Amino acid sequence: MAQDNIESTLLENRRFPPSDAFTRSTRMQAQTLDQLYDKAAADHEGFWGDMARQEIDWFKPFDQVLDSDNAPFYRWFENGELNVSYNCLDRQLETNADKTAIIFEGEPGDVEHISYRELYQKVCIFANALKNQGVSKGDRVIIYMPMITEAVVAMQACARIGAIHSVVFGGFSASALKDRIEDTSAKMVITADGGHRGGKIITLKETADQALAEGCDSVETVIVFRRCGNDITMQADRDIWWHDAEKNQPEHCPAQAMQASDPLFLLYTSGSTGKPKGIQHASAGYLLNAITTMRWVFDIQSADVFWCTADVGWITGHTYVAYGPLATGSTMVIYEGVPTVPDAGRFWDVCARHGVTIFYTAPTAIRALMKAGDAIPKSYDLSRLRLLGTVGEPINPEAWMWYHEVIGQSRCPIVDTWWQTETGAHMIAPVPGVTVTKPGSCTKALPGIDAAVVNENGEEITQANQGGFLVIRKPWPSMIQTIWGDDQRYKDTYWPYFDGKYYLAGDSARRDEDGYFWIMGRIDDVLNVSGHRLGTMEIESALVAHQSVAEAAVVGKPHDIKGESVFAYVVLKGNRPDGGVDEAMTAELRAWVADQIGPIAKPDDIRYADNLPKTRSGKIMRRLLRTIAKGEQITQDTSTLENESILLQLQGKA
Ligand code: WT7
Repeated sequence: MAQDNIESTLLENRRFPPSDAFTRSTRMQAQTLDQLYDKAAADHEGFWGDMARQEIDWFKPFDQVLDSDNAPFYRWFENGELNVSYNCLDRQLETNADKTAIIFEGEPGDVEHISYRELYQKVCIFANALKNQGVSKGDRVIIYMPMITEAVVAMQACARIGAIHSVVFGGFSASALKDRIEDTSAKMVITADGGHRGGKIITLKETADQALAEGCDSVETVIVFRRCGNDITMQADRDIWWHDAEKNQPEHCPAQAMQASDPLFLLYTSGSTGKPKGIQHASAGYLLNAITTMRWVFDIQSADVFWCTADVGWITGHTYVAYGPLATGSTMVIYEGVPTVPDAGRFWDVCARHGVTIFYTAPTAIRALMKAGDAIPKSYDLSRLRLLGTVGEPINPEAWMWYHEVIGQSRCPIVDTWWQTETGAHMIAPVPGVTVTKPGSCTKALPGIDAAVVNENGEEITQANQGGFLVIRKPWPSMIQTIWGDDQRYKDTYWPYFDGKYYLAGDSARRDEDGYFWIMGRIDDVLNVSGHRLGTMEIESALVAHQSVAEAAVVGKPHDIKGESVFAYVVLKGNRPDGGVDEAMTAELRAWVADQIGPIAKPDDIRYADNLPKTRSGKIMRRLLRTIAKGEQITQDTSTLENESILLQLQGKA
């Protein structure tokens, strides 16, 4: 994948300067941006300290910008006190109370406009309900909700009382949900009867019941929002309806003062080994970069209607749905469903009807909608759009051009934003009124972000287009604090080389002759399927947990819409069948993986053999498996293989 990508993008030399019209209307002028870069380069801490004073309303000012004593456990804005929900809601009330905070559209078509005052009330009432149910500062709360306003209300309510939320994507299975409940020792689960997705009802409460059926002893209460009215069972001593929990709760709830470094949330993501890890984010630093990137990268202005299509189950839905837009007093769209219901025009229909001006989505969605043809977007009025964004994986130049010409009508800059669950906010991205963009490149690091491409000794690679490790050399405010409950894993995963001084992103990248960054792919065994991160190990463990499976190896296969698809090699117990296919077993294993992790992890292909290609020391040769998955000739050296004949079997030639 990395190789294909580099070959096609190396030929890419189109450049897109921002239009004069955009440059005239943007908040960020080239000169101001230069000043920010200069200031950050001259005084990294001073720069972020000033930003924090300017952008955050503090209950108590911080007395130290950065505490590096216990690196890599960096602490930003020491002894400062604040509340994130206060910064999102209370401070908008003075001037913005009647402004629309959220335009919600359900998949069936129901639409609701919620003002800042109404959102403030909803959050306060629900925060009081949480307290009334025994949740207090520092408690963990799992949120397993559809993509509706109440998911944001639940997150904000937790932030308001200092509870640590951990949102679990509604597409995850009972078993994935259970792992997260147990890892966080959550006291409460907030869910809904169901959610509308893909024309169906996703039965969230039922799945939550399955997750809670065994273990999960920490959970005392389950709050259930009624969204779809589907039948569910309420367990008398544990479950309570959202509307009942809210009864008689006051409309004001004081915002709990939090230390800058108190955790705001945990969000689980996949790594190369073991179970998903709980990425822990701090309150102040996270909030700060959510705000700065809304301004620098999205050029957010008071009249904008901002729409980030990500679900709150992912980091993108945290930073650019639940927090960033509100902290900047913006109006945003929240859409519950999939882009293809009732047809592939839904996104453009939503943009047109709600006057979306800034639209942010993933390359996988762009590619899928591109496939549906130009006539569909062309039948909607997209004239209000002024800025487009992408995130999640490298965007291929072809999709970039389509996005630019057909959706942006060659008028809107595209911001290709590189970042991660761990980085909390955009790290490498264009500043749209200033940066000349190139299709497929996320361009340059933002002010105060010291991104570099280095070799294995940590030396910066200065030769153009030479690939290396993408690292961040200085701490930044919205950085991961640790992996929940596993400080050692945090150190081992992100600070393993370079004397523990540089943050290792896990991506490889190159910089071109203009210093622009081009992301080439992951350096570890992590797949990127439709912009979602999946560990190969995670899927392999799920497969071998099936009673018929002896061994499994998973690799990514290039896919023209999803970016990568899951390709699994399986050795069945009793050595049957050899090579080839087994349709019944494949259907069963696909359903099994969906059950263990979630439908996104389902293998597209499963190939059976009576062994896997291994070195004499027993290491599975994944490079070979990737070649076979692509259907390409094996040109690699296979002499170190213990069982060369297995290759024929896997290629179906045995
Ligand atoms: C990984 C992080 C950040 C929100 C969505 C994914 C890949 C992300 C880009 C981009 C090329 C990208 C990287 C990164 N990635 N954005 N603009 N260009 N690759 O968050 O699940 O934490 O995944 O997604 O490989 O490491 P995530």
